[in-house]
Formats: sequence, C-alpha cells, structure tokens
Amino acid sequence: MSTSHSQSRATVRSIASLRGKRPIVALTAYTTPMAKILDEHADILLVGDSLGMVLYGMESTLSVTLDDMIRHTQAVMRGSHKALIITDMPFGTYQASPEQAYHNAARVMKESGAHAVKLEGGVEMAETIAFLTQRGVPVMAHIGLMPQHVHTMGGYRYQGRNATEAQRIAADARAVEEAGAWAILIEGTEAALSEAITQNAAVPTIGIGAGVACDGQILVTEDMVGLNPNPPSFVQKFADLHGQMHHAAASYARAVHERAFPTSTHGYVSKK
Ligand code: KIV
Repeated sequence: MSTSHSQSRATVRSIASLRGKRPIVALTAYTTPMAKILDEHADILLVGDSLGMVLYGMESTLSVTLDDMIRHTQAVMRGSHKALIITDMPFGTYQASPEQAYHNAARVMKESGAHAVKLEGGVEMAETIAFLTQRGVPVMAHIGLMPQHVHTMGGYRYQGRNATEAQRIAADARAVEEAGAWAILIEGTEAALSEAITQNAAVPTIGIGAGVACDGQILVTEDMVGLNPNPPSFVQKFADLHGQMHHAAASYARAVHERAFPTSTHGYVSKK
C-alpha cells in the first residue's frame, strides 16, 4: 500500500506565502477523528490548550500539562496528512526561561511530530521567541487576550479598549515579529487594532474574535460546529451538533426502551 498522499503537507513557509493571496483557514483539533474530518479543509490545525476546558471540563487552561499536549498532538498527527500542526505550549512550560521553553518545545516536536508551537506573550516573551526560532522551533506568538493570563486580567476581557492597551498590544506585535515569530495569533482584540497590526506586520496574523482584517481566522472547532451550546459572541455556528446529538441520543434511548434496537440484523449469528 502506498503511503504517499496526493497533497503535500503545509509548511510555515507555504502558509506564510498565502498572506495577501487568500485568507488562511485555521481550526483547533484535539483528536484523531476530528483531525481526519478537518484536515482537508484547514491550512492549520492547532492543538490548543483550550482542550483542557473543551474536552476535560476544566475552568481554565492553566491545569493542562505538556504530556496532555503531546498525547493530543500525537492523536491529531495520526489523523492528518495535509495541514500544518501547531501545538500550544501550556502554562508553566515556557515562561521561566528561554532554556525551559526550548527544552519543552523540543520535547513536543520530538515526541509528537508537531511542526510549530504557539506560546502566549508579547514583549516579555521576545527573548524566548528569538531563542526558539534561532534553534529550529517555529513559533506562532499569541497576543491580545491571553487565556493563560486569566487571573492577572481578572477574567476573559477583550483587549485594546483604550489607547494604553492598544499601544501595549501593538508593541507586543512588533516585538514578537522582530524576535522571529513566523505568525501572530490575535485573540479577543478591538477590530481596528487588529487591522492596524495586520497592516504593519510582515508575517501573517490569525484572528479569533479580532475582527475581519486579519490574514486568517481560527475558531475552536467545537464552537464552530455548535457542540458548545453557549459559545463566545464572536462565534458563528456552522452546524448544530449539540442539538443533533441530543436528538440522536434521545432516539437511541427510545429505541432501546421499546426494544426496537437492536434487531436481529445488528448482531453476530454463526453460520450453520
Ligand atoms: O487554545 C486554543 O484553542 C487557542 C485559541 C484561541 C485558538 O489558543
């Protein structure tokens, strides 16, 4: 059996070259079956640390571990052959020093096969981003609303509401680009600010709740397909899987109660 695929795997360079040609399509993926569905539609699959909240019901992303991220990235790699796979560096695995970040990012790439990592931070992470990129780790920087900062932000507040915040975030974008980040994810940020950052940047910007002007868009897949009945206000639901699954589960329960399922066709009968 041939193991080659007709479409070759996206790279950070091929994704960056889309800038100005067409919008970049990114989605989160945490599991093999989800990656198998999304791979042909997305340029980037992000194994986001949002998996802590989406899959495990955690209150925030702070408890997610490096082992969680590696295990889920391995699963996504098994379901994908085309998209660029990016893994989020979880809280506490990169902030202490550039060396700590390199040690852990290298572990992620070696053990999972991820093509790049994403980490939260702007000016304060510039030294680390430079250290990683100079040593072979492509970094997507995540600025604006940074969920790992939930406690210092006092909640998930959208960012760039006043001139001071806007100047700080614009400085973050400049710093991460100068440090070598190949792309910038902008979350939960005033649309005019994301637009200005995108115009001034030489690398792609990927937005989530950051207006229409970014070079690409990302959503948490479970929000996009309507598995989460109450997604953030910036989400458009492109399906209602929550409703459809309720309907399916209710139909199954009714069929079992009524002994309408299984029927004689749903089992194993030995041939005599
Ligand atoms: O963890 C995640 O899913 C993210 C989203 C904001 C894209 O970082």
